[in-house]
Amino acid sequence: MCNLDSGRHRGHHQPRTVTRGECDLVKARCGPASHQRMPLSDLETKALDEHFLICSYVHGYTASQGDAALFRQFKCAPPSHLCHLLRWYTHIHSFGRESASFPAAKKESLTLLINDKEVTIMVNNSMEAEGQGEAGQPPAPEEDIVTPHTVQASSNKGIDYDKLVDRFGSSRIDEALLERFERLTGHKPHRFLRRNIFFSHRDMHRILDAVESGKKFFLYTGRGPSSNAMHIGHLIAFIMTKWLQDVFDVPLVIQLTDDEKYLWQKDATKKDNSLEHYHSLARENAKDIIALDFDVNKTFIFSDVDFVGGAFYENVLKVQKHVTFNQVKGIFGFDESSSIGMIMFPAIQAAPSFSSSFPFIFGNKKDVPCLIPCGIDQDPYFRMTRDVAPKIGFQKPALLHSTFFPALHGASSKMSASDSTSSIYLTDTANQIKKKINKYAFSGGRDTVEEHRELGGDCEVDVSFMYLTFFLDDDEKLEEIRQQYSSGKMLTGELKAELIKVLQKMMAEFQERRKLVTDETVKQFMTPRSLKF
Ligand code: TYM
Repeated sequence: MCNLDSGRHRGHHQPRTVTRGECDLVKARCGPASHQRMPLSDLETKALDEHFLICSYVHGYTASQGDAALFRQFKCAPPSHLCHLLRWYTHIHSFGRESASFPAAKKESLTLLINDKEVTIMVNNSMEAEGQGEAGQPPAPEEDIVTPHTVQASSNKGIDYDKLVDRFGSSRIDEALLERFERLTGHKPHRFLRRNIFFSHRDMHRILDAVESGKKFFLYTGRGPSSNAMHIGHLIAFIMTKWLQDVFDVPLVIQLTDDEKYLWQKDATKKDNSLEHYHSLARENAKDIIALDFDVNKTFIFSDVDFVGGAFYENVLKVQKHVTFNQVKGIFGFDESSSIGMIMFPAIQAAPSFSSSFPFIFGNKKDVPCLIPCGIDQDPYFRMTRDVAPKIGFQKPALLHSTFFPALHGASSKMSASDSTSSIYLTDTANQIKKKINKYAFSGGRDTVEEHRELGGDCEVDVSFMYLTFFLDDDEKLEEIRQQYSSGKMLTGELKAELIKVLQKMMAEFQERRKLVTDETVKQFMTPRSLKF
């Protein structure tokens, strides 16, 4: 049996057998190249979403100018509830200017059946859309976009983290920092640090100075409860935080920004957009976070909706008074149509960085240093926080930034909860994990077993290998797998089997702990109280 996937565009781009029923749904036919149809209607995008549920491309099994032409009809990414269309969009986007070399489209239109109606969408080469580049892409961003609400790589190789450090003005986590870390704590740095998954920091030396002089600091991290479905990418910052809490024995505050998710939700087709909905998601997400084994004696979790007020709100106000609209416009891209809720929200994410926001934990100490482990997408909030801190008499928080856990279909996008074929959710069963990895994980394997044996696989683009770097703790085993795969001794199927084993074990343990988290446990974590440290 051949264990090798048959090519680079494996995973969800793999040719699939279209069943008879599915063929009834999607019928491509030639049509006149008469007019440009923009923007696409709701019915058209819905029909396309169904098309991409079962097909990888506009026509056939490879990308063509039909895909490029359809792509040009979008001014921005489709909304997240059209997850199959969004997956296709992200994939075509990842080709950047390479899409100019796609082969010609087989047909000039695509006719789909939806609700018994025929919908014809033109996909011919001559179609152009406003404001887009000559090669048919929305002007590929000249540099990677990394903000709390958009992560978009400028090339299909993914985010250039090295450049990001320079652009953001943070510092690289280097050997010297890791050595100092090990010397001070007596612990070998966590694999996320050893492997540069946490790759950048701000002021980490100041935190280590405090530790060296016998002072405590506190940890702060958070989650925006946008859905019930947290994915394993969300775990990265929390796993790091838990490890730091254990190693340094320090208190931790976890903010659940139900307010943020309510304010940012604009998708009118979503079943429930109410504030109550996001508030209840905060409690559900708290259960997932608690299941990572945080110590209830040292951890306070809060929902903004429940908690903002008193000393915390005093700090929110101080931040609000010292940051102008112009500044947040520059940092977050707000404009005149942004709601005033969005404009003021960054002050709420800033406030937990200051120990005086939590008098029941820190008494009247206003200067306990704060360390924030998070994905680098959250850095804009904390650039603003660090800028304002000295103006209101507080210390700047320190940060540890992680890279993104990639989507199953490749490193050009981060794992995102809205696309079930690109994500592994914390609720996925052992069987679902196996199926998703086998079916969707982008492979760096070669087209044939012979070629693979001769040339070896490419670990740099292979998603299964990337996932192992996050979750296989054993450095020697990881290196052995790297060598075996890149020399061609190990086939893609075998590599995937290794990953499946690791993930199934990790998730089974997680899900066992999750079962034990009750409403009562959540209440304990979410009650303002003093913490041990
Ligand atoms: P949210 O819910 O988008 O993400 C929670 C944490 O997960 C990180 N993250 C990822 N890390 C690696 N790979 C991925 N694919 C991936 N997707 C998300 C995020 O960077 C974040 O660390 N506004 C915040 C909530 C928040 C917060 C904070 C986060 C409030 N205060 C302090 C970090 C630190 C949000 O919506 O996160």
